Amino acid sequence: MSWSHLVRAEGRAREARAAVAPSLLACDFAHLADEIARVEKEDVEFLHLDVMDGHFVKNITFGPPLVKSIASVAKTTLDTHLMIENPERYIEPFMQAGTHVLTIHVEASTDVRRDLQAIRNLGGKAGLAFNPDCPFEKLEPYLGDIDLLLVMSVFAGFGGQSFIEGSLAHVERAARLRKHHGHSFAIEIDGGIASETARRARDAGADILVAGTAIFKSPDYGASIRAIRG
Ligand code: DX5
Ligand code: ZN
Repeated sequence: MSWSHLVRAEGRAREARAAVAPSLLACDFAHLADEIARVEKEDVEFLHLDVMDGHFVKNITFGPPLVKSIASVAKTTLDTHLMIENPERYIEPFMQAGTHVLTIHVEASTDVRRDLQAIRNLGGKAGLAFNPDCPFEKLEPYLGDIDLLLVMSVFAGFGGQSFIEGSLAHVERAARLRKHHGHSFAIEIDGGIASETARRARDAGADILVAGTAIFKSPDYGASIRAIRG
């Protein structure tokens, strides 16, 4: 998949289709390979992998060994979302496990530029995420150095939360700044995405829609994915 194709820049946003990234956090881990095959059948662009450390966020999920197992069966681009403190310690293990796009949180890194560069040096696409209460100004210095901006539309930590409306303004602001400065990062939104919130996020300028609950807790994954894609 070509990266520039993902960026539905102004004017193109209405026609170009948005990408979907099912978050495996909400899937049935006892049947992980089957769950992956079921969403891959729908031609999703990414698999979104939520890594939580019990420090940056309360919850704990999984680490590089599970990402490696996923990589061994997945055909889709792996989009790993690190919700961990001091991400620099784990960039290499997650890249070696088979991650293609690696995203760190701006709040969790002690040297954002160093960490983004480390991801790129290992051949990855570099993503930067921020929580709904993070001042947008904290991101601005890095917008020229990222492949992906991950706008959290819930507070990082758990699946199944309600969409936070204010995140749409973050998406709009990111899209405006991208155009103004000629940047090329894709805008991803994550948390509480289902058909209606997806539509609003797409209209605001989001290129990639992450959804866990809306896909894996629905009886028809294909219908949910199509509704999110719009
Ligand atoms: C939350 C995670 C999300 C989560 C989304 O911290 O980053 O990716 O899995 O789940 P839903 O779609 O259930 O809000
Ligand atoms: Zn996520």
